[in-house]
Order: sequence, then structure tokens, then C-alpha cells
Amino acid sequence: MKVLQIDSSILGNQSASRQLTREAVEALRREHGAIELTHLDLDADPLPHLSGGSLAGANPAEADRAARVMDDFLAADVLVIGAPMYNFSIPSTLKAWIDRIAVAGKTFRYTTNGPEGLAKGKCAIVISTSGGEHAWGGPSEHQQSYLDFMLRFLGITDIRHITAAGLARGGDRRQQALEAARVELAAPLARAA
Ligand SMILES: Cc1cc2nc3c(=O)[nH]c(=O)nc-3n(C[C@H](O)[C@H](O)[C@H](O)COP(=O)(O)O)c2cc1C
Repeated sequence: MKVLQIDSSILGNQSASRQLTREAVEALRREHGAIELTHLDLDADPLPHLSGGSLAGANPAEADRAARVMDDFLAADVLVIGAPMYNFSIPSTLKAWIDRIAVAGKTFRYTTNGPEGLAKGKCAIVISTSGGEHAWGGPSEHQQSYLDFMLRFLGITDIRHITAAGLARGGDRRQQALEAARVELAAPLARAA
């Protein structure tokens, strides 16, 4: 089973989402035995923003990296995505990754019946963290609902959402939120590929 782990938090060892993506990968190992893991750290190794030059293939090194990122995405059976909330949305580095994998003709296409996702058969485990608490799809939430929509747009329908919210609220709230996320991680995560 090929697993693609994507981290985007800028908080290093203090990051809740990084801790939880690690634990999700460990849980997948326990569930499925040997896994083939590719780790994309978008803080340590961010992708350049998509530009006119990117579309024209002006920079061969950038084009090679984009091709590798697409290959890793297409090859993955399971995606483990760490998505902290930054300014009510996802980190721009994670958006830059989405801009590289959402490619017409490769991961989606437009048909006379509307758009069709082509990245079918994958499972996505989306681990969302936030300092505050935000209702799904509400005016301040452009994180989980966006990722859910985007993954479905690309053809991924098997999506597990793990949430640790209210991490900045003080008191025991952080610990409680992390424990609740761990309970969710303890349930079977992905069907065997
Ligand atoms: C640059 C930045 C922007 C943030 N913006 C928000 C926000 O809009 N809403 C919110 O609830 N928390 C916000 N936070 C808090 C983070 O979501 C929270 O610290 C979360 O734990 C980050 O995930 P991580 O621990 O994996 O880094 C922000 C944090 C940072 C560093």
C-alpha cells in the first residue's frame, strides 16, 4: 500500500497536525503491515506558486519537481494530509500543492455532464487543526470543507476527516482536542489497497 504523507505546518515540533499525521501513518502500518511511504514536507521544501512560467515549462527543475509531485499523487493509495488552519483557510504551501495536482486531463476532466474526477480509488485521511473552533462550511471555515470539495472534485470519495480544533483556547482544551483526534485515529483508517 502506497501512502503519501503531506505536512504543511510551519510549527515544527510544536505542530499538532504533524504529530497526528505521524500517528496516522503509524496506525496504517499497524493495520496494513508494510507500507510504502512518501513524505512531502511543504514547509521544509515548498513548491513554487503556479505562474505563467510554470505553465510554459520555462524552468526545467520546476517542471521536473511538478511531474514528481503529480506522479507521487497518482501512485498513492492513501493520502495523509496535515492541514492547519491559517487565516481561516489552508496554508498557502498546501494550496500550491493542490495547484500542481489539479490538472485537467490528468486528475479531472470536463464532460458534457460536468466535471469528472480522474483520481479514483484513493483514500484520503485529512487531519485538520485550528486554534479556534469553526463550523463546517460556516463563514470562517475554508479549510475542511474546501479540502473535502477539492478531493471529491478530483474523484476521491473515501475521505476520513480527523479534527483537532480549539487548540489555542487554553486550559485543558488542547489536550482534550488531541485526545479526541487520537480516538478517531484508533478506528480503522483505510481499506487495504
Ligand atoms: C499563520 C497562522 C495563522 C493562523 N490562523 C488561524 C485562523 O485563522 N483561525 C484559527 O482558528 N487558528 C489559526 N491559527 C492557529 C492554528 O490553526 C493552530 O495553531 C493550529 O494548531 C496549527 O496547526 P499545527 O499545530 O499543526 O501547526 C493560525 C496559526 C498560524 C501560525
